[in-house]
Amino acid sequence: MAGVTFSNAFTSDNSAPAHPAILEAVIAANNANASSYGDDEVTARAAALIRDEFDSPEAEVLFALTGTGANVIALTAATRPWHTILCSDIAHVLVDEAGGPARVSGAMLTVLPSDDGLIDPAELDRVASRRGPVHHSQPTIVTITQSTENGRLWTPQAIKHFVDTAHANDLLVHVDGARIANAIAALGVPPLEAIADADIISVGGTKNGLLFGDAILVRRPELFDGINFVQKQLGHLPSKHRFVSAQFEALFTDGRWLELAAHANTMAARLSTGLTRLGLQLASPTEANEVFVVLDPPTHAKVAGHYALHAPDPLRPIYRLVCSWATTEEEVDSVLNLLGGA
Ligand SMILES: Cc1ncc(COP(=O)(O)O)c(C=O)c1O
Repeated sequence: MAGVTFSNAFTSDNSAPAHPAILEAVIAANNANASSYGDDEVTARAAALIRDEFDSPEAEVLFALTGTGANVIALTAATRPWHTILCSDIAHVLVDEAGGPARVSGAMLTVLPSDDGLIDPAELDRVASRRGPVHHSQPTIVTITQSTENGRLWTPQAIKHFVDTAHANDLLVHVDGARIANAIAALGVPPLEAIADADIISVGGTKNGLLFGDAILVRRPELFDGINFVQKQLGHLPSKHRFVSAQFEALFTDGRWLELAAHANTMAARLSTGLTRLGLQLASPTEANEVFVVLDPPTHAKVAGHYALHAPDPLRPIYRLVCSWATTEEEVDSVLNLLGGA
């Protein structure tokens, strides 16, 4: 198609540029010397904003350089090597972190079946009942993803029931919130309702307009003893910490994190509706900023020369299109025009 150049616009939300307000915040933080390793005022302000947004005054907030880092730090601080971490069959911690959580924590992962990453709470009763005998790894924490790897939402009711069931089974709950802002914006609820009473949350920044950086909201610090040491050991405590924190301060000021996420969701809805109108089949319902569509080889060939699309499962013709704060209506319409063309 004339005028369309090869683009990563839909490959992932981390292929998007950083938002200008984030870059301005980094430049503004570059005005003087400051205490290192997070012992600075910008970090204190950013942490307070995140605590406030999640209505979690007792929480500690740490920052990591990547989402994988945030997940590995959280899960390692929760476990001992004879523990097991429960996760869904499509969890990023299972499939896309090169075994990091298992290697670093020493705990194993126990995979639970799911519907697009949404796990039936009854699975927790089943697995936790195996706790006790010295022969078995001991279930200790369950991790879920909001919104899930397949772009699905845990509703406030569903996540509350899940977290309550986990706690009733003496399990801690970690939420991988790489896309938590998209979930909250889509659900239209106060942030705390999107995580229920979970114990520790990876709060995404990278996919929502930062240069890089994901936060860890430790809602029950007493249950994650030593987490600061884990963060340091793994190299996620940058000495020039204020430049990570300045990004978060800008993101969490005046609701920007939800505004950017809402835009991404709106673009995904436009794309999803357009794909359906073209008669294409969605592989999962579009609920946040990720769209999964079935494309046979001739149909995929219509876009392949113009847009790099991720295929999460090499054995199935399903393509993922992710929208970000930077996605434009023109980009969405250009994909639809390509797919709808001869
Ligand atoms: C659900 C989920 N969790 C965590 C991450 C980790 O992010 P990073 O690539 O920054 O390590 C990603 C990134 O794709 C993700 O999709």
